[in-house]
Amino acid sequence: MENPFKFGTLVDNEYFTDRVMEQQHICSMLDSPNHIVLISPRRFGKSSLVKRVVRQSGRPFISLNMQQVTCVEDLAAMILKGVFKLHPWEKLKHLLANFRVIPTISTTPLGDSVEIGFQPTANLSALLEDALSLVERVSEPSNRMIVVFDEFQEIMEVEKGIDRKLRAIMQEQQNVNYIFLGSEESMMTDIFERKKSPFYHFGMLMRLKKIPYEDFYFYITGRLNSVMLSEACQMAEGILAFTKCHPYYTQQLASMVWELARYKNLSTEKLMESAINQITETHDLNFERIWMSLNNTDKRIIRMLSKGEKPYEQKSLPTSTTYSSIKKLMKKGFLIKEETYEVEDPFFKQWINKQNQEA
Ligand SMILES: Nc1ncnc2c1ncn2[C@@H]1O[C@H](COP(=O)(O)OP(=O)(O)OP(=O)(O)O)[C@@H](O)[C@H]1O
Ligand SMILES: [Mg+2]
Repeated sequence: MENPFKFGTLVDNEYFTDRVMEQQHICSMLDSPNHIVLISPRRFGKSSLVKRVVRQSGRPFISLNMQQVTCVEDLAAMILKGVFKLHPWEKLKHLLANFRVIPTISTTPLGDSVEIGFQPTANLSALLEDALSLVERVSEPSNRMIVVFDEFQEIMEVEKGIDRKLRAIMQEQQNVNYIFLGSEESMMTDIFERKKSPFYHFGMLMRLKKIPYEDFYFYITGRLNSVMLSEACQMAEGILAFTKCHPYYTQQLASMVWELARYKNLSTEKLMESAINQITETHDLNFERIWMSLNNTDKRIIRMLSKGEKPYEQKSLPTSTTYSSIKKLMKKGFLIKEETYEVEDPFFKQWINKQNQEA
């Protein structure tokens, strides 16, 4: 029997739940000439959702992960690689002849992997322009190409002014739908919502939330049934109370609960406690390292939030200090804001509360 929960990598099919409205929304945007901007904290399911919709659309697509791009040449090469995967080399040959900087292309004897390089050039804009116009050229109006930029906020690190260049090229295109994903809320908002930014209101902005309780509850009980009977409902409630429906942490904890239920004979309470402790202990060193890297104000704020207190209602810290610390902690991904501010990782929260009790 295989563990029916999956975390860490992209999920689809039997591991994918909910997101019905979001899928419809993305589909209808892709059926129009518009672009999409999808923002959420880390591991809420952006990449899984988009990959699923794009794959189901049956349209040609190119996925670009900006975390793997360090310079303009990388980005241009990645775009070309994407095009080569979709179209036979013969069809592209004459189009490549028009490139201002001719790419050098090498393939393995079986042709299963392609390496692309460019001769050194000062004209980096030409590289990008040529690569993106190739995408437009090979894309058919009735079957538009979809280009997905994952972790798009990283683009700002590639080169100063690259956002301006990209937008200048993209706004002229007719046959491509762009999807921009990002987990750095403040940077993504700055790129797509700040009036002076080149990408201001370039696409429809969507914010991905956690998975709704009801849906996750049925997802978990349905799977825990294979290793427990009447306790599955109570266990699902416990898991969701701990993870607050965070997609990744819920699957992670459910997976551990399933594992323990299968191999150990423990009471419901002990099972949950044991699963939480095992995961928390695995990350002990990392939590310690993160904790040591925080200043005293940050530590105070996280500690309060971990205990369920509201730091901005406390008189002991100036409001401006509290908010600038919260802002910084959100940028680093340690806090997220749903209805209210919360510690992103429930296991880190657990670790902090435990340290407090022991102190
Ligand atoms: N629709 C879903 N149904 C069930 N679990 C999901 C769903 N979406 C995401 N998850 C869980 O969350 C994890 C992270 O998903 P994914 O990598 O798609 O998120 P992401 O927002 O792209 O993350 P990152 O910011 O790290 O790139 C998955 O491995 C899975 O455990
Ligand atoms: Mg992702």
